[in-house]
Amino acid sequence: MRMVDIIEKKKLGQTLDKEELRFFVDGYTAGTIPDYQASALLMAIRLMGMDSAETAALTMAMAQSGEQSDLSAIPGIKVDKHSTGGVGDKTTLVVGPMAAACGVPVAKMSGRGLGHTGGTLDKLESIPGFQISLPKERFFDIVNTVGFSLIGQTGNLAPADKKLYALRDVTATVDSLPLIASSIMSKKLASGADAIVLDVKAGSGAFMKTVEDAYRLAEEMVAIGRHAGRNTVALVTNMDQPLGRAVGNSLEVIEAIDTLKGEGPSDSTDLCIELAANMLFLAGKGSMDSCRTQAAASLGNGSALQKFREMIAAQGGDPAVIDDYGVFPQASVVQPVYARDRGYVSRMETQLCGTAAMVLGAGRATKEETIDHSAGILLAVKTGDYVEQGQLLATLYTNKQAALSEAEDLLQKSIVLSRIKPQVQPLVYGRVEAE
Ligand code: URA
Repeated sequence: MRMVDIIEKKKLGQTLDKEELRFFVDGYTAGTIPDYQASALLMAIRLMGMDSAETAALTMAMAQSGEQSDLSAIPGIKVDKHSTGGVGDKTTLVVGPMAAACGVPVAKMSGRGLGHTGGTLDKLESIPGFQISLPKERFFDIVNTVGFSLIGQTGNLAPADKKLYALRDVTATVDSLPLIASSIMSKKLASGADAIVLDVKAGSGAFMKTVEDAYRLAEEMVAIGRHAGRNTVALVTNMDQPLGRAVGNSLEVIEAIDTLKGEGPSDSTDLCIELAANMLFLAGKGSMDSCRTQAAASLGNGSALQKFREMIAAQGGDPAVIDDYGVFPQASVVQPVYARDRGYVSRMETQLCGTAAMVLGAGRATKEETIDHSAGILLAVKTGDYVEQGQLLATLYTNKQAALSEAEDLLQKSIVLSRIKPQVQPLVYGRVEAE
């Protein structure tokens, strides 16, 4: 088999078979296929597309390109939850403990944040002492005793994706539906869960800016899950404004704890109940209605909060953070931002809000940067609220005085005021499941 023939075939819009896709993935991972040929194929895929069978075959080859987690030492149906990334999305910190409290084991591997989106590992590391690197045996032990553990992705999980993603980044081939779907799902399949709940975000803070594109991505990923024999459902959800009110690592953990105490913002709480209910449903815990009731009860009766407390302690963190938010690292500069005009918050440029948090120190512009766990934004307004001139819009937290004016400018731009009351958008646009 020759790589040039595979490129030629895709250039002409023909369908690649399993063997050809595996030849490409294995060869590129091993270094026997050079970047220039891989780039040419990626661009051909970006321009000509791939059908569902091709996308599934590419995903399987990528998932099998390195180590694959074997979770069989954990009894029960293991369910994973994955979000395609947004601003203020702290749902993993809430739904993991909720599922565990309802008897569904969650053995989760997460990534770090980059650019305007946050990463769950960074959020958890704002808890003093919390360890995200654990030996496999300890990880399994915590899932078996507590029901929920979360660690960093191991170095060799889907290495093909790591190489291909870096190449896509510099060859203008990131925005390809089959390449995004295969990239996300290869890591999910390699992580070893039996069932997967996907939260596909749509809107100004998401990868997919329109609901239609988010649906297409959701359908593609659910089809891959079905091909791979993993029960998969996707929710298409609203990322036209940050989820909840907190953006930034320790601020988001505090909001997650508030949510586990039943005192969180309503949008974040509702989405967590919906996601956790879908996890319970895939684990066979009853009808969707019954799963919603069980999920909500885990917040109401304190059992999910207790799971989070146990998980923090098991991973070396200080569980005192649950009762005393003063234990988190504190920002030295706290600056209110006031409205320059009056009107309804008609929409939010959510990505700008995420970028403002990054500028304050909450995120990384490049992979190498370190982050400030105390930095971020607490929003005082949500879309649809009416604000008077001079009213508090948000509070900025940072240790970088010099970053304040740029961050404030970005935040002011991200909150769009209008004299016309906006229509309320749904939080969950819909649900995609295998036929
Ligand atoms: N997230 C991923 O992991 N891969 C993509 O291609 C896009 C978003």
